[in-house]
Amino acid sequence: MIKTIPTKPFPDQKPGTSGLRKKVPVFQQKNYAENFIQSIFDSLEGHRGKTLVIGGDGRFHNREVIQTAIKMAAANGFGRVLVGQGGLLSTPAASNVIRKHKAFGGIVLSASHNPGGPDGDFGIKYNISNGGPAPEKITEAIFANSKKIERYLIADAPDVALDRIGTSEVEGMRVQIFDPVADYQALMEQLFDFDVIRDMFAGTFRMRFDAMHAITGPYAKAILEKTLGAAEGTVVNGIPLPDFGGHHPDPNLVYAKDLYDRMMAKDAPDFGAASDGDGDRNLIIGRNIYVTPSDSLALLAANAHLAPGYAKGIAGIARSMPTSMAADRVAEQMKIKCYETPTGWKFFGNLLDAGLATICGEESAGTGSNHVREKDGLWAVLLWLNIVGRRKESVENIVFQHWREYGRNFYTRHDYEAVDAERANGLMKNLKDQLGKPNLPALGNKALKGSDDFAYHDPVDNSDTKGQGIRFLFKDGSRIIYRLSGTGTEGATLRVYIERYEPDPAKQGGDPQTALSDLIQIARNLAEIEPRTGRSAPSVIT
Ligand code: G1P
Ligand code: ZN
Repeated sequence: MIKTIPTKPFPDQKPGTSGLRKKVPVFQQKNYAENFIQSIFDSLEGHRGKTLVIGGDGRFHNREVIQTAIKMAAANGFGRVLVGQGGLLSTPAASNVIRKHKAFGGIVLSASHNPGGPDGDFGIKYNISNGGPAPEKITEAIFANSKKIERYLIADAPDVALDRIGTSEVEGMRVQIFDPVADYQALMEQLFDFDVIRDMFAGTFRMRFDAMHAITGPYAKAILEKTLGAAEGTVVNGIPLPDFGGHHPDPNLVYAKDLYDRMMAKDAPDFGAASDGDGDRNLIIGRNIYVTPSDSLALLAANAHLAPGYAKGIAGIARSMPTSMAADRVAEQMKIKCYETPTGWKFFGNLLDAGLATICGEESAGTGSNHVREKDGLWAVLLWLNIVGRRKESVENIVFQHWREYGRNFYTRHDYEAVDAERANGLMKNLKDQLGKPNLPALGNKALKGSDDFAYHDPVDNSDTKGQGIRFLFKDGSRIIYRLSGTGTEGATLRVYIERYEPDPAKQGGDPQTALSDLIQIARNLAEIEPRTGRSAPSVIT
């Protein structure tokens, strides 16, 4: 039986950079998830009888919302749902399943790298038929629906057995529970030279992959250990837990410090990597060297032809605006375009669909390609392994050689988390007031080339997106960028991105915090960070 349940709108269901993210207790409120899911369905047209993919990163509250989403999909007329076994599906794997099985769309439950558990974060995101996050036109329609919703539709049916692979039915809708790893692994085998990587593992090459008790554990075990022959124990923290073992599943130098320390030790393995809560981010650390995500994007683009999936070359690169300009130099040399988009993977979708870009990346540990429409953590790790296997060089040599050839973009991001929202808005407003002024005392003798609030014109659908970050661009190519996070769930998070280009190989060594110290100071003074936020230091430096 299909039930129509009366409900009232919640005022706060505006999707952010990546879907709707809130604390678990917010999602546990009566009708909260139901309202949002119904608002998604109410924004769709032509979905009747079609397929919907449903899965999540396994965090606390995942199973409950999976059951709700299945019953609501049945009540809203979908013909079939494909659900990852146990309700699990990494974000890139969800994107692949949507594409491969020609689904109408997908519901991905995740709050990515944010902590999980009863007091942690939860999220719901809708992806469209190309496998990518819904574009702004749809997320705006969802928000508009959420503000006027009066009812939701749900099948009055028993829970589906999520752990058993097989097919069942809910109100005439087919429910298929499938192995979340198989399709994804098949895609990776098409893109990469597994024999080259297998040979490497058969020799002395050693690796450590930290799955951070999140979704990539089962994927990494199946691919790295079982298929590619990496030693058992290569994958650590490989069992997904609802609270990620109490940790923050964010693969950066703060939350993956254990991996970093091991990679800097004398007996370090050759290659270290980690992925986040839902499997779309990656961290790459060679023995003795951390590879910044911006450098990783540039390096992957420059070397992608070494993997069979990209042997014919790449059509273009795309990076989010705050991501360092290292990729631009590679594009320039390859005589292809480098697109600069606002923050968030949804802006890459059109470029990938139109064949304008092949490889995309963000400074926030996200890299990916046209194989799916999400960033993909394990994909980046496998491409790196393929490159290392073909070049037969250490990660450190590959990076140094890249800097010598293209120059080094010293880069850092300083985050000020959980800042009072009003103060953060005041700080941004004050920066906006400085735009266009040529002489700002805080800049000292650093010559400004220009400043603006970043706006993007999408060359494919001609949409315009404004207000995407305050940029101060200097004559020597350095940049300072400020923006407020669109994924945080507590107060506001101020992100400050700082970059300087260094062409001289003799000056390319050293720690970015030191190499960028002048710019870091300017960035703090210019935005009046301490007086306005009360923070004398960032909460996280990456
Ligand atoms: C952050 C990252 C951004 C990424 C997003 C989703 O968004 O900065 O690059 O696409 O998470 O993973 P933000 O919190 O900055 O809005
Ligand atoms: Zn993620």
